[in-house]
Amino acid sequence: MKTIGIDVGGSGIKAALVDLGKGEFIGDRVRIPTPQPSTPEAVVAVFSELLEELDPDGEAVVGVCFPAPLPGGTVPFIANLDQSWVGVNLAEEFTRALGRPVTVLNDADAAGVAEMHYGVGKDRPGTVLLTTLGTGIGTALFIDGKLVPNTELGHIQIRGVDAETRTSAATRKREDLGWKKWAKRLQQYYSQIEILLSPDLILVGGGVSRNSDKFLPLLNLRAEILPAELRNTAGIVGAAWWASQHVAQ
Ligand code: BGC
Repeated sequence: MKTIGIDVGGSGIKAALVDLGKGEFIGDRVRIPTPQPSTPEAVVAVFSELLEELDPDGEAVVGVCFPAPLPGGTVPFIANLDQSWVGVNLAEEFTRALGRPVTVLNDADAAGVAEMHYGVGKDRPGTVLLTTLGTGIGTALFIDGKLVPNTELGHIQIRGVDAETRTSAATRKREDLGWKKWAKRLQQYYSQIEILLSPDLILVGGGVSRNSDKFLPLLNLRAEILPAELRNTAGIVGAAWWASQHVAQ
């Protein structure tokens, strides 16, 4: 089965063909900057461009990951893309616009399933929480390897402030925080997560996990905490894997 993953982000929309045996890209990833405003019409036009390049014959099964919760495929709220997505049923909209079945999954959930299937979460039982530290904070919760979809633990309140506003990797850059100062905020965030969930394992993804040696050793938690392995391929690989499991053939 030819499978493509598409990862919709605040600054870029990225896609690649995925080898589902290995959990790796086949060929290069293609990236197009996220249109501004990032409305559904503009984003779907980018999908068509990406698919023309990666799949001119229109044979591939497509999985999309998206930066919002998607209960029943519909966006209830969205923090980091255009508000016109609210109320849109993504699975229906994308399937209709692209003329083929498309599955949709929250971006952190996609990174999580990739990590649990091909990465450091493989064969890990118990409660595992993957957090992606990027523009926002995304979370993916697994109980004995099974995804509990659409958790939004990046939006818990810490000191009366939305956690991702205070603690995301984008905030570290915006406020020019050193690793130590940022690690203090991460400590507060993950301590609260431990109070709420008592995870056995916490995985840390997002581009900043490349520098995990700068901040993970500064954290003091009961749970084991490890950097994710798949780095910036995780969303695309997870979206493609999800499509291979869930698309109606
Ligand atoms: C969204 C999540 C998303 C995360 C990472 C948050 O603002 O609410 O759904 O997973 O950002 O993109």
